[in-house]
Amino acid sequence: MASFLISLSALERNARILAEVAQASGAHMLLALKAFSTTSCFDTLRPYAAGCCASGLYEARLAARHMGGHVAVYSPAYRPAELAELLNLAHHIDFNSLSQWQYYKEQCLSHPRVLSGELQLGLRINPCYSTGHTALYDPCVPGSRLGIPAAQLAGADLSGITGLHFHTLCEQGAQELIDTFRAFEKDFGALLASPQIRYLNMGGGHWITKPDYDRAALVALVQEVREAYGVEVYLEPGEAWCVHTGVLRAQVLDVFESLGYRHAILDVSASAHMPDVLEMPYRPDVYAVRPAAEGAEGTPAVQLPGESYAPAGEPAELPHTYRLGAPTCLAGDVIGDFSFSAPLKVGDVILLDDMTHYTIVKTTHFNGVPHPAVQLLQPDGQISTVCRLDYADFERRLG
Ligand SMILES: Cc1ncc(COP(=O)(O)O)c(C=O)c1O
Repeated sequence: MASFLISLSALERNARILAEVAQASGAHMLLALKAFSTTSCFDTLRPYAAGCCASGLYEARLAARHMGGHVAVYSPAYRPAELAELLNLAHHIDFNSLSQWQYYKEQCLSHPRVLSGELQLGLRINPCYSTGHTALYDPCVPGSRLGIPAAQLAGADLSGITGLHFHTLCEQGAQELIDTFRAFEKDFGALLASPQIRYLNMGGGHWITKPDYDRAALVALVQEVREAYGVEVYLEPGEAWCVHTGVLRAQVLDVFESLGYRHAILDVSASAHMPDVLEMPYRPDVYAVRPAAEGAEGTPAVQLPGESYAPAGEPAELPHTYRLGAPTCLAGDVIGDFSFSAPLKVGDVILLDDMTHYTIVKTTHFNGVPHPAVQLLQPDGQISTVCRLDYADFERRLG
């Protein structure tokens, strides 16, 4: 049975780094639940996280119930009932447009938690400064619906607004954030400097836990912003909490040759279980699991006693090349072409690396493919299964 296997020790390793950055810079470090919301891991993360960033009511409820701490909510638009409940549980609510803000302004400003200062209200702005290369993940693309551009804010009634929020990065370094902040500062610096603005949320997309991330530069930027503008700074990475913490373990169901390709069909689907492989798109690191005695030298995020891991190569780099495909009818549901040092056979276990973030939160039951279990590798080496969906779950969610 396929499973997402997450190492709690690896999650804690990342969390420690994020907490160190928070401590050194004075930033509030939130977990973006859109990337990862497996609540059974929250006991591990809670000591290091200032709270969560939620994309709407459901994630905000999850944050309040399972993580505690600060709950920052941003959604491109709120439903009236959603906003009413958020007023009772969030600490920041950021609005995406002046029209949504105007629509809810009176209701917000008369709420006791706003009057007491327990809940603050902000606007997501669009600095219109792209640093990424993938349009799908770039909120600054022409025609973007995400955030308010500078020209629209000029002359707007911003009474009651105490926060600004931008999110523009995706898997990027400190320099891209610095460049973005400088662009933001040009257009919004005067507003940021005004006494009414008390917080700046610099979104996610910061690859802080990658070994080559320039954490000192991030710390310096946050310190500068806090001192120069007198605001609280919030960062809300998702992926950075999860980088190199989990794998998707799959099994080979069939191996055959067709139209000049050797195919290996796995018991997992790119479309249903790791859609970013198709959407972004990207090529995951892949390993064949071998007995420890073979001494294969790969280092996937999660390693188990008795196993070693043979890294797959580019097509034809190693002697045996396969197209790794899904057990679905979608022609393009292919993870990619990979070569292996030994032939694959039915029952072999294949690891798809770095599959904690933007995977479990995005899965579907497309084609009725059984959902991988979600398992945790505890620090003492025990494996606990925290989610196992079955046929009844498949049937229920389809109505
Ligand atoms: C508003 C906002 N905040 C935070 C994040 C988290 O980004 P990441 O997981 O890349 O750090 C996202 C991701 O799309 C986002 O849209």
